[in-house]
Amino acid sequence: MSTVVAEQASPTPESSDSGRKPTLREGAFGNARALTCRECGHEIPLGPHYACSECFGPLEIAYDFPAVTREQIEAGPRNIWRYKALLPVPDDIEQSPNMEPGFTRLLKAHNLGRTLGIDNLWVKDDSTNPTNSFKDRVVACALSAATEFHSKVFACPSTGNLANAVAAAGARAGIKTVVFIPSNLEKPKQVNSAVYTDSLVAVNGNYDDVNRLASEIAGEEDGWAFVNVNVRPYYAEGSKTLGYEIAEQLGWRLPDQIVIPVASGSQLTKVHKAFQELIKLGLVEEKPYKVYGAQAEGCSPVSVAYKAGVDAIRPVKPDTIAKSLAIGNPADGIYVLDICRETGGAVEDITDDQVREAIVLLARTEGIFTETAGGTTVGVLKKLVETGQLDPTLETVVINTGHGLKTLDAVSDQVGPAATIDPSYASFAATGIA
Ligand SMILES: Cc1ncc(COP(=O)(O)O)c(C=O)c1O
Ligand SMILES: [Zn+2]
Repeated sequence: MSTVVAEQASPTPESSDSGRKPTLREGAFGNARALTCRECGHEIPLGPHYACSECFGPLEIAYDFPAVTREQIEAGPRNIWRYKALLPVPDDIEQSPNMEPGFTRLLKAHNLGRTLGIDNLWVKDDSTNPTNSFKDRVVACALSAATEFHSKVFACPSTGNLANAVAAAGARAGIKTVVFIPSNLEKPKQVNSAVYTDSLVAVNGNYDDVNRLASEIAGEEDGWAFVNVNVRPYYAEGSKTLGYEIAEQLGWRLPDQIVIPVASGSQLTKVHKAFQELIKLGLVEEKPYKVYGAQAEGCSPVSVAYKAGVDAIRPVKPDTIAKSLAIGNPADGIYVLDICRETGGAVEDITDDQVREAIVLLARTEGIFTETAGGTTVGVLKKLVETGQLDPTLETVVINTGHGLKTLDAVSDQVGPAATIDPSYASFAATGIA
């Protein structure tokens, strides 16, 4: 695979013009066959396209999968490329400089399970990815696509974690990165991008404003790969690896139920797609499973639609500490609704105070420090049990998508020294801690 360096691969008009056909390398997208419309099923050849030419619906990748065995996968590297046969990436993907994300730990959460009254609970801890969120997975796939399209700039609008992942992956691959964030983003997430790129752009507006701006720039500028805009179909496939890993780490079987945070809704829909593919490929036994979506009350357009029993999602203006989930107009929201309803799951939301409590709960029961998105997910899990929406006797997986060091402020007023003492035994004894 050629390296992503702008000087080596000069952008062609075709590579940036979504109306024309780029010259693609044989096998550039592995077993991917075409782009298919998620609304009308119309298929078009692979290329830098993201909207259906017939109905403007979102496009996703369709595959012709060969026979894939568990043994082949298990013989692969301990990162997402062990599933490369199921992704839109070339066979030699491991050779290209990338962050090698994935294969994060799946922990049996005995203490949290006992506290919440869930018999069989697991935490999939994606905060241990290279830039400490699940976004490294999607960015690795987007980088591969951007390389094949000879993109000269690797870019994204982001609620924070994606900017961190794009900036780091671009630095390692030697491609120029430009990342756009809302200007009120948590400081650690700003630093975590700016350290990798000199082109962090803070926009005065919320994520939805940033996203609109990115779409406009994508239309104006040649050769820009906005990972979650014009290469979104390729990018989104990276989220499937989270689902594959859970199944493999459970001994090649699916859990009974899974709780996933929802911003755009892409991650949730792709975990479901991953489970369906594993069933179709005969890699796991077919069984029912329930998918639950988690939102913060201050940005809960999908949860509101779910509870109202309607299909349309009304966009909202976010106001929550869960900034990574603060997407008021979620691109995949309607698919989240469908999946949660069809599988017998639900979409639920909690207050910011409950998010803070859940961050501390997870830390003190399992030693995992999650950011506000994980607080939202664990807090929603707790609420689902308390309200009888989730069966605590079934095997349950909850996903932690990001690290708590990125949102320290969320809990810095909640926790601190139990006592400040003089360096003497008497002073310590007086605290009553012993
Ligand atoms: C930590 C974290 N969790 C979850 C999400 C939600 O992902 P999605 O937009 O795929 O729903 C995000 C999105 O940025 C995130 O940063
Ligand atoms: Zn269509």
